[in-house]
Amino acid sequence: MTESFQRELNGSGRMIAPRGILTATAINHLSYGVREYAGTRDWYMDIFGMDCVYDDGRQASIAFGKPRREMYIRRREEPPVPCIDHWAFSVAAFEAGRIRRTLVNWGIDGVDWDGDFALHARDDNGFLTQIGAEAGVFPGAATRGWNTDGKIPSGEKAARPSRTGWQATALHHVSYGVPDYGRTRDFYTSLFGMRVAFDNGASCVLSFGAAPGDAIALSRRDDGPVIDRIAVSIAGFDLAEAERTIRRLGIDYAAAGGSAWKLVDPNGFPVLVCPARGASPGAAEDFFPRTGTER
Ligand SMILES: [Fe+2]
Repeated sequence: MTESFQRELNGSGRMIAPRGILTATAINHLSYGVREYAGTRDWYMDIFGMDCVYDDGRQASIAFGKPRREMYIRRREEPPVPCIDHWAFSVAAFEAGRIRRTLVNWGIDGVDWDGDFALHARDDNGFLTQIGAEAGVFPGAATRGWNTDGKIPSGEKAARPSRTGWQATALHHVSYGVPDYGRTRDFYTSLFGMRVAFDNGASCVLSFGAAPGDAIALSRRDDGPVIDRIAVSIAGFDLAEAERTIRRLGIDYAAAGGSAWKLVDPNGFPVLVCPARGASPGAAEDFFPRTGTER
């Protein structure tokens, strides 16, 4: 990237209101490679009340929230497994031709088409990052001639009550470990108009979209870039009640700050369950907002 926006009014200590080249409204999807896609699909549906909106027998997409967030769950052979190998952001007023020209003009690497409703590019770490419309993107959309005919499930395979009673509404955060968190923060705030919700000089949280919004949490990892955790926001989340539910179902869990529980999905990947609120500024150790339900 050749330039980034000014963050502070010259020496005044006043932050300039966030502006971006584009405006991200949500995480469009995470692409998640696993050994066994069907069991993973079912786990997210049964724990988080996600709906299956696409399934072609080799990969599935599960969805939640408004605008729709999705996880594409696909079989992955090459290590590392499991692995979130790319992410996609929905942006307001998506128009492929205009956005392509904008990305190229800003010097973003690797810009190319991904069907009618998305483009891909490389972020400052070389990590595959898609930019798409809020609707119209699906697994395989970038393959010419591919469509969703016969791949949209119905009945119980599409939607069923979760075993927990939980309903996912957003991605409270996606944890992204990178070698230089400041450089990556500037890339995402400048490109997507994300807000810096929290920054302690070693890690930060960037939030975006209307409430309940999504966020990405950046921290330093010399072996990055790597997405090493997700946190799912639940409607009407209550910490104590969630713990009773977890214990009743016999699910392994651990504490995760004052407002979340940590679960582990069938692939050993950490998934936090937490309230549908943005990241809290000033929380030194803990990304999570106080919910008032802590004991
Ligand atoms: Fe994708």
